[in-house]
Amino acid sequence: MQEQIDQYTAEINAFTPANADELETFRIKFLGTKGIIKDLFEEFKTVGPEEKRTFGKVLNQFKQLAEAKYNELKESLGSEIENTKSEIDLTLPGDGFAVGSRHPLSLIRTEIIDIFKRLGFVVAEGPEIEDDWHNFSALNFPEEHPARDMQDTFFIKKNHGTDDIALRTHTSSVQVRMMENGKPPFRAIMPGRVYRNEAISARAHCFFHQIEGLYIDENVSFSDLKQTLYHFVQELYGEGTQVRFRPSYFPFTEPSAEMDISCTICKGAGCNMCKYTGWVEILGCGMVDPNVLTNCGIDNQKYTGFAFGMGIERIANLKYVIRDLRLFSENDVRFLKQFQTEII
Ligand code: PHE
Repeated sequence: MQEQIDQYTAEINAFTPANADELETFRIKFLGTKGIIKDLFEEFKTVGPEEKRTFGKVLNQFKQLAEAKYNELKESLGSEIENTKSEIDLTLPGDGFAVGSRHPLSLIRTEIIDIFKRLGFVVAEGPEIEDDWHNFSALNFPEEHPARDMQDTFFIKKNHGTDDIALRTHTSSVQVRMMENGKPPFRAIMPGRVYRNEAISARAHCFFHQIEGLYIDENVSFSDLKQTLYHFVQELYGEGTQVRFRPSYFPFTEPSAEMDISCTICKGAGCNMCKYTGWVEILGCGMVDPNVLTNCGIDNQKYTGFAFGMGIERIANLKYVIRDLRLFSENDVRFLKQFQTEII
């Protein structure tokens, strides 16, 4: 047995494989389940106790030698194999990677903001959790006005009156904050999320996004309001888009109006987007009520101004022909990735 082991030891020490196949043959020969080492251990079982003592050690050392040799060779051959594999063809085209896309509401918001920025408007923001004063009272809402009712407003703290805290129902609250904290002239647009207690459906949601506009200076007139909004519509929807103003009512503007544009889908011919009228309402506007100016500490004899507010979901619906409001907040990638081409 000793002789045999010596012979194998010499063979192992001298072994230099040319490739991975030769190394595998070596493994099977010595370390395999039917290999030499296995046989030697089988043979070892049959020897007497005296020999067991001497050969036990020898056999174990031999096994360790074979294993060490195999591992060492495997490692060096392994890195050779790797090296041949890493001959990369740099002329091959790279793998494309998926890019994200901007949300349609962000695209619209940016587009609207850019139009007004070119007219000298700055961007302002305010909190989504508002007190009664900024959301209602300062804006000339009578105390018993139905908009304050639980049906429309998500109250956070209801103290039955001017101490109420609520989620803002419109971005007009930012107008108040702006006027209170600064000095005229003001020329700002205020984008943000607003909340109303509505059942969620294709046409209504409990939150949506608005962009508010405010322009206060000396001698600002209704014709300034009309011209500014007319310019905005031509920029956003293209020249030739018709505009019309209808008298309306808001507590914080006097006179008040709602502005319609000719339906961008059917160009006024009538379709289900415009309910076959040829017109779609896109915003509310008016001259800032003198009471509001006074409430915000502005001299209403010296200054006048206009304000407007629009929901951007509506604007996006018209631009992208989206008929279900819920798509904006469901984050379905099949919907979102359609806006991929518009990455800026
Ligand atoms: N705040 C109004 C609304 O949410 C819109 C509006 C803003 C109207 C400014 C007039 C002036 O419906």
